[in-house]
Amino acid sequence: MKIHSLGYLVVTSTDLAGWKKFGTDILGMTVGAQDSDAELWLRADERAHRVVIEAGASDEVAAIGWEVRNDVELEALVADFDAAGISYERPEGLAARRAVEDLVRVIDPAGYVLEFYWGHQVAQQLFSSPNAVGGFKTGDQGLGHVVLAAAPFEESNRFYRRTLGFGLTDFADMGGTPGHFLHTNARHHSLALIGCDKSAWFVKGGLIHLMVELNDPSDVGRAHDRAKAADIEFFETIGQHANDEMFSFYINSPAGFPIEVGSGAIEVDPATHTSVNIPFPDMWGHQVLNVPQQ
Ligand SMILES: [Fe+2]
Repeated sequence: MKIHSLGYLVVTSTDLAGWKKFGTDILGMTVGAQDSDAELWLRADERAHRVVIEAGASDEVAAIGWEVRNDVELEALVADFDAAGISYERPEGLAARRAVEDLVRVIDPAGYVLEFYWGHQVAQQLFSSPNAVGGFKTGDQGLGHVVLAAAPFEESNRFYRRTLGFGLTDFADMGGTPGHFLHTNARHHSLALIGCDKSAWFVKGGLIHLMVELNDPSDVGRAHDRAKAADIEFFETIGQHANDEMFSFYINSPAGFPIEVGSGAIEVDPATHTSVNIPFPDMWGHQVLNVPQQ
């Protein structure tokens, strides 16, 4: 695999204080070394950050960080971009700002800003969260997964599958809209591409959702209780997905897009996995709330 894992998510926000409260009190992440009016880092493990919130005039996803294993792998990726005629840039000072060693920026076919990087800084202070006692499942599986509004779908699919080498775990026809679930390590999917554009009602802040996984299912229940007690808006009730078997619920983040908080997903072996069609999203639950009237 050319890409090791989903490394981090960058969002712009009009409400850093809201993100700080949401990220720590509800999700159970901790505050990293950046904690100013301009930038907030949220940690989910030993890394310096996994979610970067930058103060801005809007609330939306700003960049998706994809980790490669080392400098040689990043140079190989750049050579692939050259061969495929994909343009990229290395913005001055951005790698240092993201606490990584080197970084290459690409816009994907749907308009998402991607940051391919290696050498993510590790924080000196151990990760210890009072609200995510068993910790987040990251490591070799990265931050979690993102689900993108990926129109034009064929172009997006070609870019992620053929240029970046993501593997197809499974796919579904979602009422006429294609959904592809892609892996890059043992995580069932680090990325899902949905063939809709960003004007669809369930796309908020540019994203369909971010998923973070907890090691202990009890931490999911406790996060559910904290979200209820704090009157956080739910996007979907608790349930279990058919494909990754994730037991999870969805709450709306301060950026508008939901965050799926889950546990217990199955893993894939990228070397032997064969793609399957799973035409139903859930085993049980996951009722979508506040669906707009047609
Ligand atoms: Fe998900």
